[in-house]
Amino acid sequence: MKRIAIAVSILVSLATVVYAAGIQNTQALAKKGSALFATKGCTACHTIGKGKLVGPDLKGVTKTRTTKWLTDWLQDTSKMLKTDKTAQSLEKEYGLPMPKQDLTPQEVKELISFFEASDQTKK
Ligand code: HEC
Repeated sequence: MKRIAIAVSILVSLATVVYAAGIQNTQALAKKGSALFATKGCTACHTIGKGKLVGPDLKGVTKTRTTKWLTDWLQDTSKMLKTDKTAQSLEKEYGLPMPKQDLTPQEVKELISFFEASDQTKK
């Protein structure tokens, strides 16, 4: 019995460590994404919560789009504009196609993490 209790407590502490590492990792991703959002020039056309510019305000974008949609969009914008109805109706609304961004899969992940983090705060 005692052994089981010890095993359980070890498992619980392990799970806690893994969980905490996960949170830290997400925060690190979001922080990188935040920097990318500025250095990749996204801020020329987008704000987060400060209104439309050339492109849509991206506040709440993780609530209106799935992670898969956002990934496909950021990975290959031109392809999505050819094939995806949502992308096409955005293009109609904004009157210009978002230029294809030169992003690695890791950068796309970081940017989406940043959008998710912004959507979790109330501002
Ligand atoms: C030259 C202006 C421009 C730049 C630079 C730009 N975008 Fe866009 N973006 C747009 C426009 C315009 C749209 C609306 C779709 C369209 O017209 O193609 C859009 C759409 C989006 C959407 C979808 C919004 C929604 O409501 O679904 C996301 C997400 C996005 N952009 C992220 C980014 C990120 C991240 C960057 C930088 C890596 C970036 N954009 C750079 C103009 C731009």
